[in-house]
Order: sequence, then structure tokens, then C-alpha cells
Amino acid sequence: MDFFDVATTQRAIRRLKADPIPDATLRQIMDAAICAPSGGNRQGWSFLVVRDAAKRKRLGELYREAWGELMKVPYYAGASQAPPDSPAGKMLASARHLGEHMGEAPVLILACIALDPGVKPTITTGASIYPAVQNIMLAARALGIGSCITTIHKFRDAQVKELLGIPADVETAALIPLGYPLGKFGRPPRRPLPEVAFADRWGQALAG
Ligand SMILES: Cc1cc2nc3c(=O)[nH]c(=O)nc-3n(C[C@H](O)[C@H](O)[C@H](O)COP(=O)(O)O)c2cc1C
Repeated sequence: MDFFDVATTQRAIRRLKADPIPDATLRQIMDAAICAPSGGNRQGWSFLVVRDAAKRKRLGELYREAWGELMKVPYYAGASQAPPDSPAGKMLASARHLGEHMGEAPVLILACIALDPGVKPTITTGASIYPAVQNIMLAARALGIGSCITTIHKFRDAQVKELLGIPADVETAALIPLGYPLGKFGRPPRRPLPEVAFADRWGQALAG
């Protein structure tokens, strides 16, 4: 696929088929992951590629519990009242579906990043793992595989880490389900470019 077709049609695909993903395809996706940048090229990342059915089932249970926790947060509890055919309502229905079916995706990737001893994680810690997460999602899209970056597993972080034997000095950054899509890829709804891209000065819309 053309790069711009990939980049402009990659979006959250949360309804996934249970069909397995071939090993060679998965390898291609992971090869794209490890070409991502990281601060100082330290590559402190690890990717747990979970295909084992029992582990996926357990991760699915933990994710469902996490979804329940999220719905207790006032903002999300309020958003859950959005009309079902509004953009927010559709997004929530899709996220709720994943909340109930995460464990059925044929592959779950947990992207992790090593922490420096004694140093509190900051936004730049994430900057050394999320580019790799985006590479995973773009590579998956290019190969016709759906994905979605998720982070609410953090509500059950200790259990997730124990299940997968993740060391204490490693932070889990994102849980990404992969699977062939039930729905369609397509350009995602976004704020228009002139609203968010400025030329040389804040507020001065980028022309052209
Ligand atoms: C930091 C971050 C955390 C996210 N966490 C979750 C999550 O826990 N569960 C989920 O279903 N989607 C999650 N998403 C996906 C967003 O809801 C999704 O990217 C957004 O709604 C845009 O979707 P679209 O590309 O289909 O328009 C997360 C996205 C980001 C960037």
C-alpha cells in the first residue's frame, strides 16, 4: 500500500475477527516496531506478543474489569450518555465492544519500556515507546490488520505484570489487540489542519 493511504486510513479498529495472524505477518509488524526511534537510541522497549489462548482470556478479563473502572470516572460516565448515533456514542460503543472482547483478538501486544532506576517516568519516557506502538499499528494497517492503542489495562497493571512475568522496573505502556477487521478502515474524523497547524506563530493557520 501507498504510505499515505496507510497513514490516512489507520484508525481504531476494535471489532476484530478471531482468525489467526500468520507468523510471517506478525514478524513483519514487529520488525516495523523495532525500527521506531527512541531517546538516545536506547531501545529500552520490550513487546510481549501474546497468542496463548489462556493468557489472552485472562488479559481479556482484566481489560473488562479495567473498562468497569473507567466507567466510574465522571468524564467517561458522562460520555456514556452520548446519543448512540453521535461520534462520541459510536466511539464509546466500539470501545465497550473491545472492553468485552479484548481476549478474543488472536494477538495481543503489550508494549513495555524499561525505567531508569530511581527516576520517575515523565512524558518523555512514553516518547521512547509510543512511536514503536504507532509503527505496529501502521504496519498492521498496511497488511490489512486492524488494531487499537489501549491503555486502560493500567487499572489492573499489577495483575497484568504478574500474569506475564514483567519485571518491576519495566512499565507497561499500551495493550494493542491485532486481528483482521470486522469493520472497515477509513479516514478518521479529525480537527481540520488550519485549526491545529500554525505557520511560524501561534494562531496563524498554515496555508496551502
Ligand atoms: C493514549 C491513548 C490511549 C487510548 N486508550 C484506549 C483504551 O484504553 N481503550 C480504547 O478502546 N481505545 C483507546 N484509545 C483509542 C482512542 O480512543 C482512539 O485512538 C480515538 O478515539 C481515535 O479513534 P479513530 O482513529 O478511530 O478516530 C487510546 C488512544 C490513545 C492515543
